[in-house]
Amino acid sequence: MRICVVGAGHVGLVMAAVFADLGNQVACLDIDKEKLASLRASRVPIFEPGISELIDRNQAAGRLSFTTEYAEAVSDSEIVFLAVDTPTGSDGRADLKNIRSAAESAAAHLSDGSLVVVKSTVPVGGGSVVREIVEANCPPGKRVEVASCPEFLREGSAVADCLKPDRVIIGCSSPEAVPQLVRLYAPLERPLIFMDVNSAELVKYAANSFLAMRISFINSIADLCEQMGADIAQVIKGLGADTRIGRHYLSPGLGYGGSCFPKDTAALASASAEAGCRFEVLEAVIETNRQRIPGFVERMKAALGGLEGKTIAVLGLSFKPDTEDIRDSKAIELVSGLLEQGAEVRAYDPAAMDSARVVLPEPTYCPDAYEATRGADALVIATEWNEFKLLDLERLRDLLHQPIVFDGRNIYQPDRMATLGFQYVSVGRCPH
Ligand code: UDX
Repeated sequence: MRICVVGAGHVGLVMAAVFADLGNQVACLDIDKEKLASLRASRVPIFEPGISELIDRNQAAGRLSFTTEYAEAVSDSEIVFLAVDTPTGSDGRADLKNIRSAAESAAAHLSDGSLVVVKSTVPVGGGSVVREIVEANCPPGKRVEVASCPEFLREGSAVADCLKPDRVIIGCSSPEAVPQLVRLYAPLERPLIFMDVNSAELVKYAANSFLAMRISFINSIADLCEQMGADIAQVIKGLGADTRIGRHYLSPGLGYGGSCFPKDTAALASASAEAGCRFEVLEAVIETNRQRIPGFVERMKAALGGLEGKTIAVLGLSFKPDTEDIRDSKAIELVSGLLEQGAEVRAYDPAAMDSARVVLPEPTYCPDAYEATRGADALVIATEWNEFKLLDLERLRDLLHQPIVFDGRNIYQPDRMATLGFQYVSVGRCPH
């Protein structure tokens, strides 16, 4: 099939590469000329396992192309995916400027019988806005359909998630109205769930808000563990063994970050308030998450007798492991909090240092974890990259000015840390 993906961001790029690899002819469009030049030269601007190989292979095979021209990308495409970003506006609501403009530009080149699919996360009603724009701007006499198909892929496992989604949500008037989409997804052999467009849009916000709720919930239970002398690891084991609850999204830590959970929870909370039904549970989820870093900085301050003039080694800057993405990263928020308190920061991250330097020039960026730790008054684990789990702890202890580790992601065992002579502060575990 011939398809077009508008937006070469994390979602658009992964989709374009995966669908090309499944044998489709894919044109990926973006307005960022520099980004496209890099992609054509096989320099992939995101850190995502497996994506570079897919892009190389499919460009070489002539199935994947990158362009800035709507006429070239959209004409003859059976499906046009809109996968541009929908950032949070100053009022907390999703800003639809980019998707409006993409819909308008694409509409003029749509061919008869083609389908426009909204992949971007848009508030309920966003699909109708896109439909109006498409209908108003497509060539007269052409029949075009608009559907919604929210994306649930996670950064760091995006290729695998895109190939094997738990389900594909399709918002449309009926399955018969979107035969192209059914054909495109058929090779994945995953459940397709059809519903109306508004419901499909709400599924995306509800899913992300529900997962965020689990994280804030478990973080609150972790706080309770510290107050009550319980151990969060044991509590999670017992809780997660209930099949109604399960184990996913119950890792306690510094809170959730990234380009989706903070943005989508804020958007749903503000849309709910606007609709006259305040979503108080969700507001509490957001507030609990907001308090994570200030609370952690306070604990550090208390344990170290103040942070002014102290040197802190911070391992991990990306919002989670296996990505270079620092958008709404709790690790970045932590570094800012430490700097505000007068600490000096020595930082290391396997992939996110270039992006971190742009927003935070103050820390000393180090080539590895050991160099970051050298002479520091304390070490903090801010993002749980695998390479931090297997560090030589004796070496770290000897490099530290004093053997104190604050583990915001619970990657080490308290008993082992105590045996090695560390003062070890982690999340929701006793003794601490
Ligand atoms: C998320 C959704 O999972 C995905 O379906 C949607 O399409 C985009 O948003 P992503 O932002 O890539 O994906 O990250 P995810 O792995 O879900 O983690 C989000 C945040 O929650 C990270 O900051 C992570 O560290 C945190 N998290 C996750 C926890 O603190 N505890 C957990 O148990 C799980």
